[in-house]
Amino acid sequence: MQSKELHYDSDAVAFLEELWGEGFLSPGGPAEVARLLEGVDLAGKTVVDIGCGTGGITVSLVRDYDAGKVIGLDVEAPVCEVSRKRVEEAGLADRIEIRQVEPGPIPLADGSVDIVFSKDSIVHIPDKETLTKDAFRVLKPGGMFVASDWLISHDGEPSPEMAHYIAEEDLGFGMASPNRYRNALEAAGFIDISMKNRNPWYREIAKEELARLERIDRAKFETVITPSDLVSQIATWRAMVVVLDSGEHCPHHFRATKPLS
Ligand SMILES: C[S@@+](CC[C@H](N)C(=O)[O-])C[C@H]1O[C@@H](n2cnc3c(N)ncnc32)[C@H](O)[C@@H]1O
Repeated sequence: MQSKELHYDSDAVAFLEELWGEGFLSPGGPAEVARLLEGVDLAGKTVVDIGCGTGGITVSLVRDYDAGKVIGLDVEAPVCEVSRKRVEEAGLADRIEIRQVEPGPIPLADGSVDIVFSKDSIVHIPDKETLTKDAFRVLKPGGMFVASDWLISHDGEPSPEMAHYIAEEDLGFGMASPNRYRNALEAAGFIDISMKNRNPWYREIAKEELARLERIDRAKFETVITPSDLVSQIATWRAMVVVLDSGEHCPHHFRATKPLS
């Protein structure tokens, strides 16, 4: 399902956290998490966070949203280590467990969680049909799958611009279309499926990020990664802005509910 190559090593983490904030390996910070979770009541709930990264959001689910228990899953050892440290420093080790897992089924019992949450991580899991079935399996009746992910707008071959961007990212992306996600969620048995296209938001933010990398904060980024790595990140962001502008790269929020019976 996914190679063993580390995509989020310490250099990548340092770069992304400089760009997106400490504990965040995806854009938008706390405000975007709040938009993703708007109207979702996490109080006292058991949540699994698929692809918890360095744990900023995982900690926030308990600290800011009062989740009862969060299980953060990630495949990469270094980010799990950073996450565990963050959890301990926050004094939340009794409510948050970070588990390093192999790519594959969610290692939780059937009907054991209230919320399956994920922020910009399931782009790394190409088989959306198996993933959504598995999310359905681990949810209690009435539970919700709430996620943000990076999508491609259609089911055909990526355009040359999109193929170039995906190659530049080199992060083992397995992007799917909104249509494919919706079909997978329906086939898994979910109801009340909603999808929100975040392209209009991120296409503007990504331009600001590019300006920071190229000019505004360039000197700062050069202290975080090597100048040649920065040049390559700038090339990735330039490629990304093109496919955000065309709409082919379309991050989405989605929600779906497991029926009560
Ligand atoms: C873009 S980061 C997002 C991390 C975090 N959710 C955030 O927003 O800060 C993606 C994360 O997904 C993890 N990941 C990749 N494949 C995974 C899989 N099959 N299961 C769980 N996590 C995975 C990566 O190791 C990485 O930490």
